[in-house]
Amino acid sequence: MFPASTYSDRRRRLAESLGEGIALFPGHDQAPMNYKDNYYPFHQDRSFHYYFGHSLPGLTGWLDLESGKARLYGYDPTLDDIVWTGPQPSLAELAEAIGAEPRDAQELTGDETGSSRVHYLPPYRGDTVLRLADQLGLTPEEVKSGASARLIAAVVAQRSIKDAAELEELERAVEISWAMHTTAMKVTRAGRSEQEVLADVLHEMNRRGGQTSFAVILSVRGETLHNHHHGNIIEDGQLLLHDSGAVAPSGYVSDITRTFPVSGRFDGRQRAVYETVLAAQQAALSVIAPGVPYADVHRVAGRTLAEGLVALGILRGNADEAEAAGAHALFMPHGLGHMMGLDVHDMEALGEDRVGYDEEFQRSDQFGRRSLRLGRRLQPGFVLTVEPGLYFVPDLIAGWRAESRMSEYIDYDVAESFLGFGGVRIEDDVVVTESGCRVLGPAIPKTIDEVEALMGDR
Ligand code: GLY
Repeated sequence: MFPASTYSDRRRRLAESLGEGIALFPGHDQAPMNYKDNYYPFHQDRSFHYYFGHSLPGLTGWLDLESGKARLYGYDPTLDDIVWTGPQPSLAELAEAIGAEPRDAQELTGDETGSSRVHYLPPYRGDTVLRLADQLGLTPEEVKSGASARLIAAVVAQRSIKDAAELEELERAVEISWAMHTTAMKVTRAGRSEQEVLADVLHEMNRRGGQTSFAVILSVRGETLHNHHHGNIIEDGQLLLHDSGAVAPSGYVSDITRTFPVSGRFDGRQRAVYETVLAAQQAALSVIAPGVPYADVHRVAGRTLAEGLVALGILRGNADEAEAAGAHALFMPHGLGHMMGLDVHDMEALGEDRVGYDEEFQRSDQFGRRSLRLGRRLQPGFVLTVEPGLYFVPDLIAGWRAESRMSEYIDYDVAESFLGFGGVRIEDDVVVTESGCRVLGPAIPKTIDEVEALMGDR
């Protein structure tokens, strides 16, 4: 956790930007897996975490937006709690650690929230909806439709800009990713299962105090974008795509992808596809700067991918025209990246478009481009992922071919000769600086030479 002044300062700035009413931040309760006392690993709501610091269940944050006064609602541990879970801090100690007043959660009723406007963020868990309904005297439907657009906008504006202390924590999360990724490259061998490699990766994460920031993608079938199946036996000649992220003990996260050959050596076709994806990432990194719309960065990467696809004979004609038409998106159906911070898709619970778009930049409806989560102009302090890829998805290629979709640009015979190739994605986490961007964390092998050197002869 940061010092109490960090949370007081965040809340003061939020209150100043809104100026009236009460803001409520419901923290998470434990989520039962299969019966009441057997929980999923606890994961705090990230806006509560940002303004009220604690990653513990059963707390609610309250902020008077006129005076800036804050309260932490919760319960003191009972003797029974202590018997089962050991000594716990009192509510007063928790409140003091974040510069707030302690209050018993039972007092948080309609009267306590006051007659003034109560602002809250969109609740995305059923138990939070019910709790808010109870506290505010509303129906669950009223709660779901009643989130405050002004609070959402103010929180997005604030959480989008990462300060120096947050960047340090994000670097820590990427350090854990470094260990996870270099381990995957070292321990992958033909004959092992994806599950065994995953176990080694998770071991490195756990021993560093990390948790996964999303379900790990680690597969020789990398063309499935979110492939969480780990049942394949790894074979020489295949590529392994590994996309994973860690939650550092502070709650800040990472999200990194590397793709490498099982044999430790890229063959000719793997090399050509990989170099194209790497060039797209480098092109994107070279144009990221304050004021640049991320929608434009996505297109810079797309044009580089289209050039590479033309060189491979998969696309034909003019690469820029093919990119403008969206033909390359058959092979990169996702967006170039997203905001990252306390969430891996940062603040997505507040609304994807409210985080990534604004009045100036609206989401495209073109296939591929419409999956871009972040389109608006970049600002110093934004942290985001840069993750171009190329994938050969059999069903998608077959579907487009059946419709002769963009056949002026796509040579479907050549594309089909890549079926079984899998997919390549390369992803780093960057902070936008005053003049460009900086890749976070220690360098994780990325060029072909770096990857092959780490993997060695096998
Ligand atoms: N890297 C996984 C995701 O962004 O969804």
